[in-house]
Amino acid sequence: MPNPFEYRDAVLYCEDVELTKIAEQAGTPCYVYSAGAILSRYRAYDDGLAGLPHRVCYAVKANSNLSVLRLLAQAGAGFDIVSGGELYRVLQAGGDPASVVFSGVGKTRAEIDYALEQGIHNFNCESEAEIALISSLATRLGKTASIAIRVNPDVDAATHPYISTGLKEHKFGIDIAEVESVYQRAATLPGISLDGVSCHIGSQLLAAAPLVEAARKLLALVGRLRAAGIAITELDLGGGLGVPYSPADDKPNIAAFLADIRTLVAGAGLFLLFEPGRSIVAEAGALLSRVLYRKKNGEKEFIIIDASMSELIRPALYDAHHEILPLRQSKFGTVKADVVGPVCESGDFLAVDRTVANVLPGDMVAAMTAGAYGFAMASNYNARPRPCEVLVEGATWRIVRTRETYADLTRGE
Ligand code: LLP
Repeated sequence: MPNPFEYRDAVLYCEDVELTKIAEQAGTPCYVYSAGAILSRYRAYDDGLAGLPHRVCYAVKANSNLSVLRLLAQAGAGFDIVSGGELYRVLQAGGDPASVVFSGVGKTRAEIDYALEQGIHNFNCESEAEIALISSLATRLGKTASIAIRVNPDVDAATHPYISTGLKEHKFGIDIAEVESVYQRAATLPGISLDGVSCHIGSQLLAAAPLVEAARKLLALVGRLRAAGIAITELDLGGGLGVPYSPADDKPNIAAFLADIRTLVAGAGLFLLFEPGRSIVAEAGALLSRVLYRKKNGEKEFIIIDASMSELIRPALYDAHHEILPLRQSKFGTVKADVVGPVCESGDFLAVDRTVANVLPGDMVAAMTAGAYGFAMASNYNARPRPCEVLVEGATWRIVRTRETYADLTRGE
């Protein structure tokens, strides 16, 4: 399924469902996800690695709705988590703890204990102190924790600075120049088994070349570690493959990327892991919204909609581009405008100086490619209840998270 969203007779559909129907019945703002698109991207990874021992561990942070997780668990995916809360979500969705890798630079004692008790696959460790803590907690529980060390391969991912992670100056991983001595020291600790090497160099990479370069560096490292007597059996190449947000963006191809990786790892005797998030769910989702007002300040046109930075913070935080499409195409042409929300911040925009459909109050629009880091980064800022989420499967759809209520806003206070 290349793109689940398409116009049929000037009406925008997700799979076989008219989006205005969802917006009218579920209300706006509202996130909509295509199950078919999520599964097709997961399968592109799984098929691209067919014949090699591998596991595709979906990065839960991108979209942690239980129905999305359940869909992926049932398709055979593993999960990449970065918190105890994400592990809890995976378990609630019926995911197998033995398919879970635990990444992140600041795992707490309680989170490590929880993960050990649940029997996760392994920990991607980011510091010597963390390895020492896992060693002592596992020993106390009488367990052996499988460990990979997240290596910082010093590769420039050429993406937005906030989502680039693989350079020496970043907080992530352990410098590739120092990691061999860290493995040597860790090899003496009880309660852990040093099985893997991992990396994640950044997110929204529109070219696969930096990922392939990182893989090459990690493979060389695996060779050196094995020569030094550390029997590495697993290679985790992280996530990071990007998606086209604007029509001008390159369109990274999952199959082509994996074909390059296959050539590199052939015969290396490694169990391969990947942690894709965005490339599985981003294009499967859109945020539906209703136009509230139009106004002009001087020469500037504003389209004020009922979605905001509270529901989709990516434009404000990363200058991200999301296409804004009308749910029904009209004959009123286009207008150059800022598409903004009701939140009291000048940074509250979904598009700036953008030529968009000349939509009027009451019309509905969709912010596209919003399935990743959309709802997952939504907040209650300005005391806005978080939107509902809808999952589309063919010609049917259902609400997979209800819209928050005012009572939800004050719960716990
Ligand atoms: N593995 C690790 C260790 C990660 O830190 C990440 C993302 C992933 C996997 C998944 O990366 P992906 O395949 O989704 O690129 N909020 C930002 C993206 C932050 C990504 C953080 N780490 C955004 O909206 O663009």
